[in-house]
Amino acid sequence: MVPFRKPLLKTLKAATACFMVLVPSRKSVVLEGPGSIRKLPDLMKKQNIKKPLVITDRVLMEKHLPAGLLEAFNAAGMPCAVYDGVQPNPSIENVEEAYGLYVKNGCDAVVGFGGGSPMDCAKVVAGRAVRPHLTAEQLGGYFKIMLPVPKKLPRIVAVPTTAGTGAETTSAAVITDNGRNTKYTVNDFLIHPHVIVLDPELTCGLPPFFTAITAMDALSHAVEGYIGGAHCKFSDAYSEKAVRMIFGHIDRVYKNGGDLEARGQMMLASYYAGIVLNRALTGYVHPFAHKIGGMYHLPHGRVIGAVMPLVLEFYNETVSRRLARLADVIGASRPGMSLPQKAAAFIASIRGFNRTYGIGATIPELREADFPEIAKSVHGECIPYPVPRIMNDGDIFRILKALTG
Ligand SMILES: [Fe+2]
Repeated sequence: MVPFRKPLLKTLKAATACFMVLVPSRKSVVLEGPGSIRKLPDLMKKQNIKKPLVITDRVLMEKHLPAGLLEAFNAAGMPCAVYDGVQPNPSIENVEEAYGLYVKNGCDAVVGFGGGSPMDCAKVVAGRAVRPHLTAEQLGGYFKIMLPVPKKLPRIVAVPTTAGTGAETTSAAVITDNGRNTKYTVNDFLIHPHVIVLDPELTCGLPPFFTAITAMDALSHAVEGYIGGAHCKFSDAYSEKAVRMIFGHIDRVYKNGGDLEARGQMMLASYYAGIVLNRALTGYVHPFAHKIGGMYHLPHGRVIGAVMPLVLEFYNETVSRRLARLADVIGASRPGMSLPQKAAAFIASIRGFNRTYGIGATIPELREADFPEIAKSVHGECIPYPVPRIMNDGDIFRILKALTG
């Protein structure tokens, strides 16, 4: 039996991922535009919510970013509880602490306010409320919340304050297990947010470098979904829109963080790219970024930016037609170029993005002694992803070597 276990597990995981892709997610209510955050309390009142728990982090609290929302809740006569302890990579402890507050205060909704971490934490707190007998750790994997029969689900509200993670529109959350020094994913349709607030005013204070790395993250969601085996007409339309909007507005938001119109376009682009991520999944770029980012404590988007051109070059002719189309979309191609030339022009545009906006092409922190562990993790995470071309250890090592510079 033993030799059959691994292939069987792979098949099961792939089948589950296909199910996630094929079954449509819940349709969310989207509040969009400058100042839209102030409309949230009224909307929640109409949805008969009595007491939300706002989940955020200390950095945002110190910057008073949630203040407008908290005041709006007050003005609407809606008391709310606040958990502001979410760490940059939300931990099991964060989920348990926030869930404790949720229960203690008799809450009936969660509002994830911030980057991907508070939103992911809020989603899993909602999962805990549905399955109070399971720990945050036990919710890891697929459909532990919705099966067998779900209890009443708290309303889940996602308020992104960066334009990049797409966590506001995915049915997954990444949680860090500090005890085991690893991360795991909670995948479940039930944690797809009911309400999404896309208020570009909330992103205006983001410094240029963080603006760039979050935009690169959104770009990777749009590109990886576009070239993977799970793409469809629906996801292609969102990918092309997102890629066009990101390349079309990054310069404006990088140079002038207060450009509300461009911030709004980037926020929408990130949301569209999140839809792609939810429907068409990722490829090899994200498994590299998850492991390298986790090992050396590096920002997700910085690693994504360095890794993506190398992975796209590895895919080579398997994706040249798709990348050529993206080169057309962003105006990087010229008449008379062949498909491979257009694909190379698109990859060159990503490298240009990295150069211009300070992301860089290498990860000097990488140590050769860690390559085997990274390769193992990349292979493991990639099992359910519909990648265009499979990597072996040698392929992964070559990309890691190139990243060391
Ligand atoms: Fe990402």
